Amino acid sequence: MKSAVKATSSFIGMVVLTLSTTVAAQHAFNHPEKAVEYRQKALSLMQNNFAVMGDMIKGDITFDGTVFAERANDFVALAGMPWVAFDQPGAKPGKDTNALPAIWENWDDFMKKAEQFQNDAKALQQAALSGNQNDIRRAFMTTARNCKACHDAYKD
Ligand code: HEC
Repeated sequence: MKSAVKATSSFIGMVVLTLSTTVAAQHAFNHPEKAVEYRQKALSLMQNNFAVMGDMIKGDITFDGTVFAERANDFVALAGMPWVAFDQPGAKPGKDTNALPAIWENWDDFMKKAEQFQNDAKALQQAALSGNQNDIRRAFMTTARNCKACHDAYKD
């Protein structure tokens, strides 16, 4: 009986431990530096994919619908990634970041821009699947405007 109680309480202890781990994980990163690194890497990979699509649209490299659609898929996946890493205590200017304080002063607007960007990225992915080059070009230009609009306001 005694050992059953003991087993139960250590089981509860394990549950509590697991729960507190889950709570801690709400902040995706343990250190502000990691959050900054994460978002910069995501943005950088996103840019790599966007650049290949841009080169095809400009004609610097031959347009290939299959490759374009692959890059658009990766681009959409990456376009959703950086934003969680801005919502991290301490991951603000002064930590090797080009993010401006204006982000945290205008958080709702920043998140709105991030959301609009993701919607436009999805529209680009859809256009890529359609294979219609006029639609693709238009969707690409619309998406590109998001980069500049957000950088002008929120990136050093
Ligand atoms: C909603 C705002 C927003 C949008 C939209 C946005 N960016 Fe950024 N971007 C930022 C911010 C803020 C930083 C600075 C991040 C930092 O240094 O912590 C940044 C940084 C970058 C960087 C530098 C990453 C590094 O290695 O330091 C690249 C490259 C980049 N963005 C490319 C793009 C491209 C390409 C697009 C559009 C296809 C885009 N961004 C759209 C806000 C945005």
